[in-house]
Amino acid sequence: MKFGSGAAILAAVLMVAACRVSDQDNAAQPANETAAIAPILATPDANDIHSFARPLEARVHHVALDLTVDFDAKRIGGTAILDIDRKPDTKEIILDDKGLEIQSVTDRSGEQLAWKVGARDANLGAPLAIALRPDTRRIAIRYKSAPGAEALQWLTPEQTAGKKHPYLFSQGQAILNRTWIPTQDSPGIRQSWEATIRVPAGLTAVMSAPRSAEPITQGGESVFKFRMDNSVPPYLIAMAVGDLEFEPLGPRSGVWTEPAMLKAAAAELADTEKMIDAAEKLYGPYLWKRYDMLVLPPSFPFGGMENPNLTFLTPTFIAGDKSLVSLIAHELAHSWSGNLATNATWSNFWLNEGMTTYATTRIVEAIYGPKVAAQQIALGVDSLSDEIEELGGASVPDTRLHIDLKGRDPDDGLTEIPYEKGAAFLRTIEAAVGRERFDAYLKGWFERHMFQPVTSAIFLADLRQHLIRGDKALERKLMLDRWVYQAGIPPNMAMPDPQAFAEVDAAVAAFARGGAPDSAGWGRWTTDERLRFLNKLPRKLPKARLDALNQAFGLNDARNMEVRYAWLDLAVANRYDPAVPSLEQFLTSQGRRKFVRPLIKALAADTSWGRPIAARVYVRGRPLYHPMVTRELDELKLGG
Ligand code: BES
Ligand code: ZN
Repeated sequence: MKFGSGAAILAAVLMVAACRVSDQDNAAQPANETAAIAPILATPDANDIHSFARPLEARVHHVALDLTVDFDAKRIGGTAILDIDRKPDTKEIILDDKGLEIQSVTDRSGEQLAWKVGARDANLGAPLAIALRPDTRRIAIRYKSAPGAEALQWLTPEQTAGKKHPYLFSQGQAILNRTWIPTQDSPGIRQSWEATIRVPAGLTAVMSAPRSAEPITQGGESVFKFRMDNSVPPYLIAMAVGDLEFEPLGPRSGVWTEPAMLKAAAAELADTEKMIDAAEKLYGPYLWKRYDMLVLPPSFPFGGMENPNLTFLTPTFIAGDKSLVSLIAHELAHSWSGNLATNATWSNFWLNEGMTTYATTRIVEAIYGPKVAAQQIALGVDSLSDEIEELGGASVPDTRLHIDLKGRDPDDGLTEIPYEKGAAFLRTIEAAVGRERFDAYLKGWFERHMFQPVTSAIFLADLRQHLIRGDKALERKLMLDRWVYQAGIPPNMAMPDPQAFAEVDAAVAAFARGGAPDSAGWGRWTTDERLRFLNKLPRKLPKARLDALNQAFGLNDARNMEVRYAWLDLAVANRYDPAVPSLEQFLTSQGRRKFVRPLIKALAADTSWGRPIAARVYVRGRPLYHPMVTRELDELKLGG
């Protein structure tokens, strides 16, 4: 398959440029003049089946929000003003809408525009069609989000660290921002944006953009203003509101969190500035000015989310010894892979996550050394093998990097494949051409595609043009199309260092032969080594052997959440009763999808032993979990 039709891409750029030029009757300029309007790709593989928008006819290029956060009603409401580019003869613009309560749609002179919400799809929401007059270049939508908006999680004071104030955060990726922002919610339609956010006095609002003014508090309300001058995919618009404080970490980094968490968070994040420097050396200048982080309450459903200027983080990465901070390297790396060069559609998600996973270990290597990096690569490859097995084997279509999501939710593609098969692909190229050449290539890739959507076809064409350059032997050796478009793992994969965990693997073998747990070893091992040990143990172990492990290593009380998870996973597989209190505590004190989902699913599938536990835990844990987590787990019909 060949898509890389330069002519089609160029045509789309020209079309958009042409309608800008024709915008002369429009006295006032769009609110945003600094950001160039990013092109819309016109190739077939850039067509986003998860958006109703038809951006080649009319597209949003700037969003200005003025919103009030109402904690009592669990709604956000106000105005969204959209600046649009359009073909002159286009009669309507289509936005994405999922449950928004729309009050009115007007043009810049306040004239009503006709609008209509079309048939609703369970995953995608509905098209919001707005009629355009020949001269319409700006539309204003008055609206409210619904109380059940899936992008938003409203926390009661009891669900926060401080227990005194409510909390709100949004999570847009992949297609949830359409539940609170009426725009074209497609990663291929980049938009600059600004926002005025009104919250109850005393609370602080933060967003994925720099502040554009000092906050003002007046009449029981605090008003915050933000402005993103770069064009970004709309899934990167994010907000949080709560009792938040800030602590600087370095000249261009700092951390926001609840006061009770601030010291621990800042200590854990002490290496951030070094990571930014390391990433810049590899991939070119950091173009977003500041890199701040927000450590959220434990219900945040992800490890991290690369919201520009303000990475969102789970508090479960705080281990007290910085042993889980490759998470920061990962979210930081997205400042290049994902936020500069962005998957044009969710079928190309591996371009975001695979490149980021590859870059993560490069940043980790620069700061913590090659041994730590080699171990993290080996852990990644372990999880890739496990995932392929769980998906049903190497011939299953969902093991392809470029995944078919027709009729499905983009979350169906959220497996280890885009992350770890993607990273393995890039390490394979690196091994074939040498690090120096590949580093130079990747730096060039980001330079050539900054602030633009990208597809698998664009990446392969770019590799051929700038790296392979007609070298037939190299082309054959790399098996590019097989890696991207076919199932399973090609035979040329660069393998992880088999010695990366030599000592730990020997300890696993000794234990499997019946030996006592290696307490001295465990005491010395790093978190990654402990994880390898737990993950490599035989999956079926008798109670006495689990008792021995638990007693020797204190696993039920492990404070490191990744270690605790690895242990509980093993415990559930063996119906190990002494771990149940620890399991219940774990599942009712945090809502990270990666931890909660597999444990609850495994429990629910074990009808006699596990299901009653799952039912009990779910009733208590569910209020903490994010809508995107409960949406899937509710299907298990556990009650609660
Ligand atoms: N962008 C992702 C999180 C995401 C992906 C949210 C798809 C919604 C849809 C983020 O960068 C990520 O990959 N997080 C991982 C971090 C880990 C791989 C270090 C996570 O949360 O587990
Ligand atoms: Zn990621």
